[in-house]
Amino acid sequence: MKRILLILAVMAPVCMGMAKTEAPDIIPVPHKLEMAKGSFRMKGVSINCDASLDAATVKAVRKFADRLTLVSGKTVSVASPVGLARSVETGGIKGLCFVKDASVAPEGYKLSIGKKAAVVRASDYNGFFYALQTIKQMLPISIYGSVQSSKGKWVLPCCEIEDAPRFGYRGLLLDCCRHFFSTDQVKKVIDVMSMYKLNRLHWHLTEDQGWRIEIDKYPKLTEIGAFRNGTMIRREWGSNDGIRHGGYYTKDQIRDIVAYAAERGITIIPEVDMPGHMVAALASYPELGCAGSGPYEVLTYWGVSKQVLNVGKESTMKFLEDVCSEVADLFPGEYFNIGGDECPRDEWKTDPDCQAKIKELGLVSDEKASAEARLQNYVTARMQKFLATKGKKIIGWDEILEGELAEGATVMSWRGTKGGIKAASMGFDVIMSPNNYCYIDHCQSTDLESEPFCISKTPDRAVTLEKLYGYEPYTGFPEEDRHHILGVQANLWTEFIGTPEYLEYMLLPRMIALSEVQWSRPESKDINRLRKSLETHEFPILDLLGYNYRRLDK
Ligand code: ACM
Repeated sequence: MKRILLILAVMAPVCMGMAKTEAPDIIPVPHKLEMAKGSFRMKGVSINCDASLDAATVKAVRKFADRLTLVSGKTVSVASPVGLARSVETGGIKGLCFVKDASVAPEGYKLSIGKKAAVVRASDYNGFFYALQTIKQMLPISIYGSVQSSKGKWVLPCCEIEDAPRFGYRGLLLDCCRHFFSTDQVKKVIDVMSMYKLNRLHWHLTEDQGWRIEIDKYPKLTEIGAFRNGTMIRREWGSNDGIRHGGYYTKDQIRDIVAYAAERGITIIPEVDMPGHMVAALASYPELGCAGSGPYEVLTYWGVSKQVLNVGKESTMKFLEDVCSEVADLFPGEYFNIGGDECPRDEWKTDPDCQAKIKELGLVSDEKASAEARLQNYVTARMQKFLATKGKKIIGWDEILEGELAEGATVMSWRGTKGGIKAASMGFDVIMSPNNYCYIDHCQSTDLESEPFCISKTPDRAVTLEKLYGYEPYTGFPEEDRHHILGVQANLWTEFIGTPEYLEYMLLPRMIALSEVQWSRPESKDINRLRKSLETHEFPILDLLGYNYRRLDK
C-alpha cells in the first residue's frame, strides 16, 4: 500500500496537474520521488547535523554550507544540537537536518522536504554525500559555481525522496597510459563522476605505451617506461608524430588523488595489467622478458604486442609481487585489478623457463585450455593469493576465465556479455562493461565522418548515447545468477584521445546516461526525459564548470 502511495519518479510530472511542483531534474533519477506543494527556503538556512554523524560527513555538509553561503550571499550556519534525532522524530525542529538512520540502504538516502524543515537520513557517508548531490540538483545551477548569484530562487521543492542505487559498483575506467593526463584532469573526471553518483574509478596505470605509477623498488619503470618516442598518427601504421609523450604519478600525487576521490564517495581501483600489456616494463627491465624476445621499446603504436613477461622465472614473479605490494599500499579499497586481457602466449611456447615451469606445475593442453593458458592461470592464482595477504580481492578481464580460475576472483566482462554470463553461472561475481555498450572510446554517432577520429572503424561499432542508455545488465543472466552482477562500468580507453577536451567530449554526456544504467531502476529510464534534462539542466551545469561535451543529435 505504501508503495502505491509513493509515486515513481517517472510519474512525477503527472503531479503537475494536481498543482504540485514540477519534478526537478535529478540524474540519476531517484528510486522514488513524490512531489508536494510548496517549498523550503534555503537562503540563510540553519543546518543541523546529528551528533552521531562522522567527521567526514560533517565536513561534507560544511563544505556544502560554505558554498551555499557564497553563492546565495547569505550566511548558512552549521550546528550539532543535542538530541537532534529525537527532535526530528517529534517534528520539533526547523532547518535542514542530517540524521543517521541505520535502516537506510547502503549509499541510499531519504530526503523529506517540508515547508519548515527538511530532513536527510542515511546510514553511511556516501548516502549523505549523494543526498547533497540531489539537493544541489534541485537548487539554481549557480550552486555549482563559486560566485554570488541572484539568478533563481534559493528554495527546495517540497517532496519525499527515497533513493538507493540499483548496483553497488558504478564504475568508470580511465586509461592514463595510452595518453597521460594531469592530476588536475583526473580530479576533474572524479568531480563529474561524483555529481552523478558513480563510485568506482578503475585507474588503468600500466600499459605497453606507458607506465604511469612510481614504484620505489623499480625506478626505471618511470625513468624509462613512462615515456615513449612519439605516437602513431591515427591508424597509419608505421607513422610517428615525432613528439615524445609521457608522464607518471608520484606516490604523493596518487595519495592526494585517492583522498580527493574518497571525499567524493569514490574508491579508486588500480589496474596493473599483467602478464601481457607489459612492454613499458620490459623496456625498463629487459631481464623480465622471454628468451629470444626484445629489444624492447615503449610502444609508439596501438594494438596487442607479442612481447610478454617471462612468468617462468621466479624473479619475474617477485617483480610482480613487489610492484603490486607498493601499489596495494597506496589504494585502500578492497579490490585490485590484475588485468589479464589479451595476453600473448606465443613466446611462452619457446621460452625454456616457461616450458620448465609448465612441466614443473604439470600443466597440460586439452580441449578446455592450452598449457600456456594454464600458465596464465598460475600467474592469476598466485597474484590472487599474494594480494589476499595485502587484504585485496582481485578483478580481472574476462580472459582470466580461460582454464581454471580460483574462487573469489571477480570477472570484468568486456568482450560482450558472454564472459560475465558464464562467470556468474560458475559462481563468480562480475562487473559488466561489454564493449558494444560500455566502451566510450567508440564513436558517439553511426555517422563516423561527422565525429572526431575515434577507434570505431564501422558504424555498427558506434556507442551512441541511446545505445549505452538502453543497456540492461540483466539481459542474458538467469534470475538465479543476477546477484553476482556487482555493477556496470564504462571504459574510456585513450589510444585516440590525446587532449583533455576530447577526453571530456567522449565522456560527456554518455557518462551521465550511464549513471542511470548503474543507479536507477530500469523502468524509470526514459530517454526523452534524459535528453530534456541534459539540454536544460546538465549542459548548463557542465558549461558553468568548464567541461567539454558532445551536443545531442537533433
Ligand atoms: C580490453 O579492452 N582489452 C580489456
